[in-house]
Amino acid sequence: MNEKNLTQSLIKGGIVHGYRRQRLFWTLMLSLFLVFALTVAVGGRIFYEWEHEEMHEVARERSAALALPGAIGDVGPGPAVTVDEDALKEIMFKLTLVYLFVLAIFACLLLLVARIRTRQFGNLVDTQRSMVFALASLAELRDQATGKHLERTRSYGVILGGRLRRLAKYRQVIDDQFIDNLYDAAPLHDIGKVAIPDHILLKPGPLTDEEFVLMKSHAEIGGQILSKIIERLDDPLPFLVMSRNIACYHHERYDGSGYPEGLAGDAIPLEAQIYALCDTYDAIRSKRPYKGPVTHMEAVQRLMVSRGSHFAPDVVNAFIDCEEQLLELFESYQVYDEVYQGFFDNQSGGGPAVVWSSEFEVGVELIDRQHQELINRINSLIVAIREGRGREETFMLMRFLQGYVVEHFRTEEGFMLRHHYAEYEAHKEIHDAFIADLDQLAATMESTGIDSDLVVDVNQKVINWLVAHIFLIDKGLRNCLTSSE
Ligand SMILES: [Fe+2]
Ligand SMILES: [Fe+2]
Ligand SMILES: [Fe+2]
Repeated sequence: MNEKNLTQSLIKGGIVHGYRRQRLFWTLMLSLFLVFALTVAVGGRIFYEWEHEEMHEVARERSAALALPGAIGDVGPGPAVTVDEDALKEIMFKLTLVYLFVLAIFACLLLLVARIRTRQFGNLVDTQRSMVFALASLAELRDQATGKHLERTRSYGVILGGRLRRLAKYRQVIDDQFIDNLYDAAPLHDIGKVAIPDHILLKPGPLTDEEFVLMKSHAEIGGQILSKIIERLDDPLPFLVMSRNIACYHHERYDGSGYPEGLAGDAIPLEAQIYALCDTYDAIRSKRPYKGPVTHMEAVQRLMVSRGSHFAPDVVNAFIDCEEQLLELFESYQVYDEVYQGFFDNQSGGGPAVVWSSEFEVGVELIDRQHQELINRINSLIVAIREGRGREETFMLMRFLQGYVVEHFRTEEGFMLRHHYAEYEAHKEIHDAFIADLDQLAATMESTGIDSDLVVDVNQKVINWLVAHIFLIDKGLRNCLTSSE
């Protein structure tokens, strides 16, 4: 599909519908403002001319009154006609004031309307987003085996979309908004599975032909569910239209052998082309009731073989360019799953992955502040890995940690000593071991640079530290306070 066709298909699908309305609104407001400014300027000028004329009239009358009485016939030239400059300046000053006043009122009105409009739009976005997350969670609940599949695949979409937009062909279509929409839309891709019976959805073995036909219907059903929602909304957000396209077409194949409609090539919406690869990569790598996990290299090979048959060639090329980032992301989530103990609950809500809570507090302001600082850094790393910036952030985190641990451990150990903490030695040993591990990671970073393995190792190290030390052992420091009270 060429750029023009792509854009047309997006417009047809309503992708740019919402933006058009926004643009129309602002164009209208701007035109109104210009018309108003022009009217005031022209009106002011006419008024000025009129006042000016009136001043001349007054001057003429005065000069006539000053003419010598008793003269017969020609009264002569009389005194020169002069305009009262001060009065004229006063009128101009008043006019300017009135003009500025009206302009200020108009600007306030404009701001007020814009504010109301923005708030309404914000509410609309929030409502539609919440609805999507509720629906997505519903689908996830039915299909427990997928774990963090939704979270990972939406992040793969961001990475792949970012890589594809570098191609001239997609520059007009894939902008920041497209990628944001893809991220929001992705969790709904399998919403149609809510209609698939449990004995098929959760079957721990291969499906029969009949069962497979039923299973395949999830794509069409998902498309129908979302189409119904879109039809009922006056102003559906573009990401809803995108989620409909992904739900309906993520099992289409580039050569036309997919389902439900057997679309081929660029007739498949771009978002569905991208998401199809994300979904498949994650499914291949994950353990499912009916199959074991597969290594990253094997997954890469399988996807490369399907270039031009199952997947769009451009999408596979983009994947090859950033496959290591997908690897980092997948492995990082394995870390979260392994140590998952409720600390990462917030991920699907779009907020920070780890949320500080009072239950982690030691009760010493400085120590608690330092722990929160580390959590902020870990959240930044998680976001960076999701956005394909894992290496840069890992480098920054390593630099940060080298200074942080020295200062933080000194604070904690000093505190333990002052309060004669019974487990001081054991606690200090753990600190020292962590410093040694960090030194080793730093040495690897120096010698071999940052690769996917290092990103995953650092990620694993800090997450484990958070869960096994800060949330568990450091909490014991509270005892110091209680016993010394
Ligand atoms: Fe699916
Ligand atoms: Fe600590
Ligand atoms: Fe500690």
